[in-house]
Order: sequence, then structure tokens, then C-alpha cells
Amino acid sequence: MEQVHGLFAAAQKFQSPVIVQITPAARNYAHPAMLMAMVKAAETIYPDTVYAIHLDHGTEPHAFDAIGQGYTSVMIDASHDPFEKNIARTKAVVEKAHERQVVVEAELGVLSGVEDDLEIADKDALYTNPKQAKEFVERSGCDSLAIAVGTSHGAYKFSGGQGIQFHILEKIQQELPGYPLVLHGSSLVDKNEVALINKYGGNLKEDAAGVTDAELQQSIKYGICKVNIATDLRLLWTRIHREFFSGTPELFDPVIPGKKYMEAYTEFIGKRFAVLGSAGKASSFKSTHHAQK
Ligand code: CO
Repeated sequence: MEQVHGLFAAAQKFQSPVIVQITPAARNYAHPAMLMAMVKAAETIYPDTVYAIHLDHGTEPHAFDAIGQGYTSVMIDASHDPFEKNIARTKAVVEKAHERQVVVEAELGVLSGVEDDLEIADKDALYTNPKQAKEFVERSGCDSLAIAVGTSHGAYKFSGGQGIQFHILEKIQQELPGYPLVLHGSSLVDKNEVALINKYGGNLKEDAAGVTDAELQQSIKYGICKVNIATDLRLLWTRIHREFFSGTPELFDPVIPGKKYMEAYTEFIGKRFAVLGSAGKASSFKSTHHAQK
């Protein structure tokens, strides 16, 4: 609820279109109906917003359930399957989704890091093969493609210092000019936030690291048009709450730090809009958005 408020308040304040992205883990935690109700409520509370609701890292049952619920976009993540099986699974979801005018994100290549309950060792991370990316998109019919070019999920991106592999990203763009590419694991992982979390009782490792603003802006030039940001918002939650309760051990009302989190969330997301170039662009989507209702 705090995240929905924070996001929609930022979208309205800075006039940026947003993608509300919901994971299967979040749906398990809160219940899919609860999350959808909050997003629908946010639409009435923040009427000047333009948003999409997207399912992150779904399997077929998640995707079909989300489509039935009114999501505008779903991800089918069969990236851990062999190439042919990934195509077949993606194509089956694309066919059903397109019947309902829902767009589909797929994934090719394997990111390292933590993905809900799945952990992939760095050495097993597989970068996306550019030629395979083109074939995958053509044969599966997916509308956007998440690629593995060096980012990872969680707070310990680039522990090996390798960074985004721009030479691979460039080749993917050359194979798929103008096609929407998606970068998962796009959090900044601000070292100041990590230090504050540790100062107030946390125990995150010193080598926590993320994607810089310059890397994100460079990625956009190479065709990235959707970035996934989750870790930063979790770090923000942890820092706000640890700092608050450490400083006021006599308090126990969740709405006080909750309010601080919402405000900090809005401020943080506003800065992301500025870096990513989406601030002020909601109006260019409004005519089509309202025509669909
Ligand atoms: Co992801």
C-alpha cells in the first residue's frame, strides 16, 4: 500500500507514465485481488496518472490469472528452459495474451542473483546471444525481451566488477533495431543507503553495488526502454524503518515510519524519472490511454 501511494504520487507530481510491476511473490504475500484493488484505488486517488499493470517473472498459471484480472502486460519467464522450450512456452502465452490485447515480455539469457526462491551462481549466468535474440523474438511473437547483459537481481550486482556488457547489448540492438529491450536488476544500490542500514543495526555486505545513472542512460541509447527497480525500494524501506525505530525506541505505530517511507519513495522515484527521461511524458500517452476505457 505504501509503495502504491509512493509510486502514483510520484507519477502524478512529475507527470511520468509508470509501469506498476507485481511479482508472483508479492501476489502470494498480499493476495492478487488485494493488489489489484489498491492499484484501482490509486487510479481514483491520483487521476492524472498514466500507468500499466505488469506481471513480473510469471509462469503460465500466473500469466493467465493476471490476464484474467485485467493486467495490461505480463512476463512469461521460461529463460531457465532450453531455447526451443522457452520459445514454445512464450509463444503459447503470447497467443492467449494477444487475444485480450495484453502485451508479453519474455526473457532470454540467465541473470545471476536472487530471483524469488531461485538462486543462480554468478558463474552460471548466461549472457543473451544476439542472433538467438532475433530468432527468439520472431518465432515467439513476444512484445518485449528481457536480456542478460551483466546485471543481476538483488543488492550485490557486479560484485566481480564486470558491469554492463555494452558490446553485447549493442549487438542485440543491431539484430533487433527499434525493438523494446528490458533491463532487469536496474537498481542503483546507493552506498550511502547501505551504510545507513548498517549504522542502524543492519548487516549488508560492503560490496553491495548496482547500476549507475550513466550506465542506465547509456543502456537507453542501446534500446533499453523498460528498467526494473525493486532492490532500491527495499533498501529504502529498510533504511527508513531501521533509522526511525533506532532513533525512537519508545514508538511502535507503523503509520509514522510508513508516512516517511511513502514520502521518501515519491522523492526517490521522481529522481529516477529525471535520470530515465520519463518525467513530463505522461501527456503523450493520455489520449490513447483514455480512449481505451
Ligand atoms: Co527480474
